[in-house]
Amino acid sequence: MTVDTPLQDKAPSGFGHNRPQAQWASLQWGGRFSEGPAAIMQAINASIGFDYRLWRQDIAGSLAHAAMLAHQGIITKDDEAAIRQGLTEIGDAIASQKFTFDPALEDIHTNIEAWLVSRIGEAGRRLHTARSRNDQVATDFRLWVREAIGAIDLALRDLMRALADRAAEHAATIMPGFTHLQTAQPITFGHHLLAYVEMLARDRGRLADARRRLNECPLGAAALAGTTFPIDRDMTAQALGFDRPTANSLDSVSDRDFAVEFLAALSIMAMHLSRFAEEIIIWVSAPYRFIRLSDAFTTGSSIMPQKRNPDAAELARAKTGRIFGALMALLTVMKGLPLAYAKDMQEDKEAVFDAADAAELSIAAMTGMVRDMQADEARMREAAGADFATATDLADYLVRDLGLPFRTAHHVTGRLVAAAEARGIDLADLPLDAMQEAEPRITEAVFAAITIEASVAARKAIGGTAPDNVVRAAASWQAALA
Ligand code: ARG
Repeated sequence: MTVDTPLQDKAPSGFGHNRPQAQWASLQWGGRFSEGPAAIMQAINASIGFDYRLWRQDIAGSLAHAAMLAHQGIITKDDEAAIRQGLTEIGDAIASQKFTFDPALEDIHTNIEAWLVSRIGEAGRRLHTARSRNDQVATDFRLWVREAIGAIDLALRDLMRALADRAAEHAATIMPGFTHLQTAQPITFGHHLLAYVEMLARDRGRLADARRRLNECPLGAAALAGTTFPIDRDMTAQALGFDRPTANSLDSVSDRDFAVEFLAALSIMAMHLSRFAEEIIIWVSAPYRFIRLSDAFTTGSSIMPQKRNPDAAELARAKTGRIFGALMALLTVMKGLPLAYAKDMQEDKEAVFDAADAAELSIAAMTGMVRDMQADEARMREAAGADFATATDLADYLVRDLGLPFRTAHHVTGRLVAAAEARGIDLADLPLDAMQEAEPRITEAVFAAITIEASVAARKAIGGTAPDNVVRAAASWQAALA
């Protein structure tokens, strides 16, 4: 039985979406297993339904391996030329979706090799000299994860750029800052957006770290013990863009910590995106109305005509679950496996592919929303002034201008907040004599200190929300990300 696997890869990275497996599985559902042990075994054993996504990496690895075998005199130059020709044809056939994958051939490695042998005969049969599928899959998968890291890194850079652009635009836009989701102090919208730029920069750092550690080449470790042939592992490592060959053959074929690390870095990143998605959901909600998203990123309700649901943000928030799940799945697959390779490890791929897809899509959605969103500055400003948000500024005024110790100032301010609350007015609307009842030395100058503009403008120490700081920080991010 053969299955046509439609490829939806986005050339040239080989990093794309994998949907055909689900389609294939559902077609088989019911009846198929009654065909007996062979059918059951094929269904549980075959990985071609998902690992076809490694085809570019598998061909690249085989090309490097064959070139090295020829260079070392392990195969002839003619054999290598035939292999190169054959693999190039296979690559073209797969890229143009003319290649038919066969689940009876289990995985991408065997599918490609079998096709090569059917095409070029004897020379094709020499390709697997001095290697095993164990080092082959470890190499392919490292290459795939390395590309995925590259693609996600670029996507994150785009998102950071979008955030920095909007932060520059809103450096002086005042909104309420929250703790416990309670109005705390006025902040600038730009400052809030730049908080995510900082988080995403660390996420990129974690991905870069993971990439650095994964960039060693397992090819040549063979099944587990190394090979008896005089191979040149430096040569294949270099050809595939690795920094060096891996040092221990057992470790080479039996660890997947590079994939776990990738998923861990993605999980932390997804946690950040999820928080941001949650904030977008809060900000667009009717009681807040801080921002508005266009129809491009919202959906209507089938029954309530007034609704604009932030579905893209909700889905970005939800996809975090798949990414965390992938991390837990792979950690669980790997725990307790004795060295070296075990077939359990074939379960590494779907989790990684799915998490990478979810991450890529979530980042794109967040980037789209950041560029799309329109801030309601009047509404943000109004909310920023409510709920005694400048109480801390009043306390700071008492310390700065009157020399009160901060704890005393905090206490006096508490009494003033209570007085304003009792009258149902804002702090700034308390008459001076009412203020002086709490602290006789308060003067008119207090009113200038407790406007929301003064509140944000005064927070100009490093890392503070002052518009001047935000202008500078946004510009420096824009320059760094250009
Ligand atoms: N499809 C397999 C995987 O992804 C390739 C390695 C098979 N090795 C083996 N010894 N059966 O893990």
